[in-house]
Amino acid sequence: MTDKLRIAVIGCGPFAKRFVNLFKYHPNTEKVYVCDLIDEKAKKFSEMFGVDIIESFEEALEREDINCIANFTQRHLHGDISIRALEAGKHVYSAVPMASTVEECQRIVELVKKTGLTYFIGETCYYFPCAMYCREAFAEGKFGDFSYGAAQYYHHINDISYGKREAERGMPPLFYPTHSTAMLLAATGSYATEVVCFGRKDTAGDKCFTPEGNEWGNEYINQYVMMKLANGGTIRVTEARGLGFGSPSSSISGFYGTKGSYEYSVAQHLLIEKDLTAEKETIYTTNVSDYVNSAEMVAHKNDPDFIANVAAGKWKNDSFAAIQERERARLPKSYEGLENGHMASHQFLIDDFCKAVVSGEIPALNAWFAARCNIPGLVAIESCKMGGAVLPVPDCGDAPVR
Ligand SMILES: NC(=O)c1ccc[n+]([C@@H]2O[C@H](COP(=O)([O-])OP(=O)(O)OC[C@H]3O[C@@H](n4cnc5c(N)ncnc54)[C@H](O)[C@@H]3O)[C@@H](O)[C@H]2O)c1
Repeated sequence: MTDKLRIAVIGCGPFAKRFVNLFKYHPNTEKVYVCDLIDEKAKKFSEMFGVDIIESFEEALEREDINCIANFTQRHLHGDISIRALEAGKHVYSAVPMASTVEECQRIVELVKKTGLTYFIGETCYYFPCAMYCREAFAEGKFGDFSYGAAQYYHHINDISYGKREAERGMPPLFYPTHSTAMLLAATGSYATEVVCFGRKDTAGDKCFTPEGNEWGNEYINQYVMMKLANGGTIRVTEARGLGFGSPSSSISGFYGTKGSYEYSVAQHLLIEKDLTAEKETIYTTNVSDYVNSAEMVAHKNDPDFIANVAAGKWKNDSFAAIQERERARLPKSYEGLENGHMASHQFLIDDFCKAVVSGEIPALNAWFAARCNIPGLVAIESCKMGGAVLPVPDCGDAPVR
């Protein structure tokens, strides 16, 4: 039983910066520490947020008063940090991805099973309005049986922070499949059993995506996977670091069932339903954009440059969409006026984690779900290397009901 969170935030980069206050001001939190390998970064956070510094991750593991680790290190370090934290008896909040090998994902699930600790994957896209809409409409039966869905995460290497950092240059895009998979898998309630993947080799002429240019020997700048699901459906996931598209974005572009479908492009969200029982073909199309777009977007929808602004990434940070209002009602009062981010998802994630640690309940974004979002991408990297071989995906099973 955990009464209050005493949490060490490991990694003081730009992403963690958007979460320290959310941990600090949650009513279930007693104390927040910050930690970075680079002293200056921890010092800056300490001053900015009025929190204490802990000298090292190892010290945080040893300290009995610290009961939670928030893992905001570089993405290829996540598995190791989370495993060591769970082994030391700490609850874990981890930024995505879960880990970079199948074995590390499986180990995290095993540790959570064995210890009963909370492991929470901070997948922002779980609370993206398009993902929430597909979950809601599917659960209400609007789509019928799931057939096919497509999702993608486009983030050009030129404007991604890790693109400029040596250690992470040229990593396979599918190291980070969770934005796309989480949105689709959470809506369908299913998981991948087989994958087949193709990719585009980079032609930029620098060394970034070449066998010698990065520590993964990766040549692919974009990867496209088909995943066969246990429920008989199929999903297509695209992870692209070299597409001439708009601002960085993750979205479900289409979600199709036997009775109805959802389609999205830039700012338009459509629900299309077919009455299969009617004598004459009857199709109902509903524009659900005002329900799914952020309130700020809706307020600007008649601007002449509205589409251009949305494509450029405007109004996608702090403003809640109508579909998020029900969730918003359960956020602590202390969050009012605090920064949010990534389609207003940050506050939901930290609230979920802080409540799960104290209640002992298994959160939706648990280790089993995280493994199902992450492992298919890691297997697909191998499929891509093999020119599109069909490969089976190991499954860690359903989260237990606690
Ligand atoms: N939408 C999203 O879900 C989203 C968006 C952005 C970033 N992220 C994730 O957040 C993570 C952090 O992103 P970022 O851009 O802030 O990264 P970053 O590289 O700028 O910062 C990571 C920090 O971790 C520190 N660090 C590494 N190992 C450490 C250790 N053992 N002890 C203490 N400090 C350690 C590094 O020194 C560095 O300052 C990434 O893994 C990324 O995948 C997720």
